[in-house]
Amino acid sequence: MNTGKQLLDIDELWCIKEDRFSGETTKHYEGLFTQGNGYMHVRGSFEEGLEGAAQDEEYLRMPANVTLEKPRHPESKWGTFIPGVVGKHPLLKEEIINLPYFLSMNLVIAGEKLDMKLSNVKEYRRWLDLRNGCLYRTFIWETKAGLSLRLTYMRFISMSHEHLCLQQLGIEALSGQGVVDIACGIDAGVRTNGYNHFREVLTAEPETGCISAETLTDGGDRILMLSSVKASQNILWSRQQKDQNVFFWGSKLLKAGDCLEVQKAVSVVTGRDNEAGELLERGLKYLRAFGAEGREKLYENHAKVWTEKWKYSDIKITGDFEAQLALRTSIYHLIRSNCENDPRVAICAKGYAGEAYFGRYFWDTEINMLPFFIHSNPKAARNLIMFRYNTLEGARKNAGAYGYQGARYAWESSVSGEEQCPCWQYADHEIHITADIVYALCHYVNGTGDLEFIWNHGIDIMVETARYWVERVDINKNGYYELLGVMGPDEYLPMTRNNAFTNRMVKFSLDKTVEYLEAVRKQDANKYRDIEKRLALTPEDMARFKDVGEKLKIPFDANTLIIPQSDDFQDYADLDFDTIWKDRTRPFGHFISQERNYRSKALKQADVLQLIMLYPGDFTREQLSASYDYYEPITTHDSSLSASVYGITAAWLGRLEEAGKFLKKVMETDMSIEKKGAAEGIHIANCGGLWQMIVYGFAGLKSAMWCSEIRLEPHLPEKWEKLEFTLAWHGKWYKAAITQEKYEIFEMQDQLEA
Ligand code: BGC
Repeated sequence: MNTGKQLLDIDELWCIKEDRFSGETTKHYEGLFTQGNGYMHVRGSFEEGLEGAAQDEEYLRMPANVTLEKPRHPESKWGTFIPGVVGKHPLLKEEIINLPYFLSMNLVIAGEKLDMKLSNVKEYRRWLDLRNGCLYRTFIWETKAGLSLRLTYMRFISMSHEHLCLQQLGIEALSGQGVVDIACGIDAGVRTNGYNHFREVLTAEPETGCISAETLTDGGDRILMLSSVKASQNILWSRQQKDQNVFFWGSKLLKAGDCLEVQKAVSVVTGRDNEAGELLERGLKYLRAFGAEGREKLYENHAKVWTEKWKYSDIKITGDFEAQLALRTSIYHLIRSNCENDPRVAICAKGYAGEAYFGRYFWDTEINMLPFFIHSNPKAARNLIMFRYNTLEGARKNAGAYGYQGARYAWESSVSGEEQCPCWQYADHEIHITADIVYALCHYVNGTGDLEFIWNHGIDIMVETARYWVERVDINKNGYYELLGVMGPDEYLPMTRNNAFTNRMVKFSLDKTVEYLEAVRKQDANKYRDIEKRLALTPEDMARFKDVGEKLKIPFDANTLIIPQSDDFQDYADLDFDTIWKDRTRPFGHFISQERNYRSKALKQADVLQLIMLYPGDFTREQLSASYDYYEPITTHDSSLSASVYGITAAWLGRLEEAGKFLKKVMETDMSIEKKGAAEGIHIANCGGLWQMIVYGFAGLKSAMWCSEIRLEPHLPEKWEKLEFTLAWHGKWYKAAITQEKYEIFEMQDQLEA
């Protein structure tokens, strides 16, 4: 087994570890250890499952505020997700479907089933190697029958063959003797949020000697999983089935000194893959790679892709081990959850590592994650925006459903682009998402120089959303336009008057639309005519976009440096936080009714600070400082999108102690074992937030949105000796190296893929 060397090679700066098993934290590690390759993702559950943690329990999850919901499944929840494979939930609209669990491997010795909770297990250790996305587990199992075994598991979801997952189990008999029964299979006894999305599960034993589970979902997709096994010693495998579990079964007598290695391969294909051919034929083709190339070669190819990814996305922090590991964990999950080859999907709020947010897409993608991709993988950034272009039709339907022209992007989008949010407050009022998308596409274009993207795709989004905005505004008695009944990024105020963030975003969106259209009209009459024709654009449209952009009210108070969150913000009630928020380790929202929260000055997350962060040129340092001091004490950070924004702006203000406090909070979001933060999935927006904290905050990179050259204004935490990262910028690769004394930026010779 070639994991020998790898077992010794636990590089503390690259591996996240679990040193002891505890039922209390299993679910957290399942989220944290999620593996994937863009195409498919599997939570880091044990191969053998966990006693008492049923995966096929049926119940109704009700629409609720996800941040404050009490999740089911306290100990373990399997999760196998293929972005784009969704089905209808009776109460929650469309959700991603948790597919059959294909990692299943069970061991039984003299009637005793291996289980981390029940078995006598010693020297337990599990770790995820971020360099190559391989998950390892090793421990000694002392069985009741007297046979003692060292078991070593290793698995990876191939980055080079996206339909393939490989697993390996090494068994070394340390003392005693006995027969080990081994079952390796695919288990379809899985429900999503308590709901059964499988219309049919067909299990079969195809001619070729593998096992198969084919699922027909209620979303109309067919998913085929095929699996085969190999062992280092002769084992007679039989193909069996129990309930919805199909598996290979074999047994072997082992005595002290014996070693056995079992390898399992799984290929996964679906009817929605961009590939012609029958499912079975395609699934077999991928599975054959296991037979033909062998596990070693497949591992090598897989690891090579990861190495290449890290070459352009790693950030090295010298002098802060914790920050280094947390940052690499975040980058790992960003790389993994990005479906690089499929612009029909984006990155869901839990990074395909949990069911909590139903696999839906939020503004998290555009505002929190996109900068990482613009500067480490521009092609992926383009695809993420293409997802919004591809879902423009859904956005048009949303606008129509609300009685407007044009396009209105969903607060919670699924693959169709249609609104999926079951809670009216967010669905109806959190409208900034529509403008955030335009901001993001301009950010992509400014960071890459890919102006063609605007003419071929972006302008469609811009014009269609502009048509929505000019109808969504109201005109006031002074002749200014207003946006009434708006929820800004701060979700604890559901219906405000002129939210500063939203209005500024909308103004940007309208102004940019006019600016681009005027530019193309002057520079390229043919192109302009094409656009005019394609979008049925009229001079009246243009005039209206311009008028609303120019006269849209932006909340401002001449008597103070503090930027008002909304025109009516001061009308809300003040709260005595110390009396209400008894335990600050828990979200504030748990200590107050929604009704009271909605009429009080308690922010869920950065709102004005998010605005200043995205439009730094609009504000003076004094305004930033005053707004920070005013809003920070009344911001609860109940949303994981908040702390990084405060951290970045604290760093800009040179308040390094505060920035350090926020850095810790951001890192703990998924890493903290005490908080079990990753249990319901990865807070992938926070992962993007962490990248931004380091690059925009501590390195002080000026956003490509506003700056055409690379400019840094570093504020490194005291203990950091050096910070180094790679940046894609306008079609070229650069390296930045920052120490406490100086910084350097130099161009790399590497070619950037267009
Ligand atoms: C936050 C939103 C965010 C969503 C998904 C909510 O708790 O308030 O800003 O988009 O989670 O991450």
